[in-house]
Amino acid sequence: MTFVSVASVHNVPAGSAVQVVVNGQQIGLFNCAGTIYATDNICTHAYAELHEGTIDADDCSIECPLHGARFDLATGRALSLPAIMPVQIYAVRIEGDDIQVAL
Ligand code: FES
Repeated sequence: MTFVSVASVHNVPAGSAVQVVVNGQQIGLFNCAGTIYATDNICTHAYAELHEGTIDADDCSIECPLHGARFDLATGRALSLPAIMPVQIYAVRIEGDDIQVAL
């Protein structure tokens, strides 16, 4: 497992999300209450970019902007329909100001 620097911490303030593209792969970075999570950024239901959805800080989930499926940011599990399949998650570590993702 190789950790790759993908963004700076200050680019993803609490409650926000961004997309980064690493080796052609779209990764979503989500800051839920100060913790950064990384997942595949494409919803498993249809084509939507999850970073454009809404983070729920109560359970650290992301709601898809297209049809409203919710995913647990820590596990990737689909929490509500219409998504059934989980999103891939990636380990995250912070090194200084760098957000690093294990790819
Ligand atoms: S594309 Fe995400 S719920 Fe349909």
